[in-house]
Amino acid sequence: MTLRNGDDSEMANQLVEEGKQSPADVFLTENSPAMALVGNAGLFAPVAPATLAQVGSAYRPTHGQWVGIAAHATMFAYNQDKLKPADLPKSLLDLAQPQWKGRWGVSPAGADFPAIVSALMALKGEAVTLQWLLGLKANATIYRGNGAVLKAVNAGQVEGGVIYHYYYFGDQAKTGENS
Ligand SMILES: [Fe+2]
Repeated sequence: MTLRNGDDSEMANQLVEEGKQSPADVFLTENSPAMALVGNAGLFAPVAPATLAQVGSAYRPTHGQWVGIAAHATMFAYNQDKLKPADLPKSLLDLAQPQWKGRWGVSPAGADFPAIVSALMALKGEAVTLQWLLGLKANATIYRGNGAVLKAVNAGQVEGGVIYHYYYFGDQAKTGENS
């Protein structure tokens, strides 16, 4: 088997460029926008119904061209020296409030962030999401990558940060020095 690795969008764009000539048999991504890109180009074979049936309908598109196989959670990592559990935000939306200015970090330019925005839009609507993004712009320190956010939280540069959960577990599985 030949394995090609890359960013979600980089891999998706490569597949679309190769079209029907692509040597790829399987495409695995972390976030669904890259799946949608390849699906919209008509490059997927339908997933077998028996395979689809093993996954809850909330975790796969109705067209059955791909299926979720794992989940990730958006979490707020916090520095225990700076924040006590009682001080934590009750919701992601709280971080857009003025009292959180300069206190938290996020990596909005990476492949993971659009999924957070999409989830907010699906759950709370466009107006609430826009307000949250404006609050993020006003309040958050911007980092490049979730790993950098985790590191900054751990070092106390910010009190907390919005990341995907596996960056914490990934660091713990190595040296744990950034978590
Ligand atoms: Fe990621």
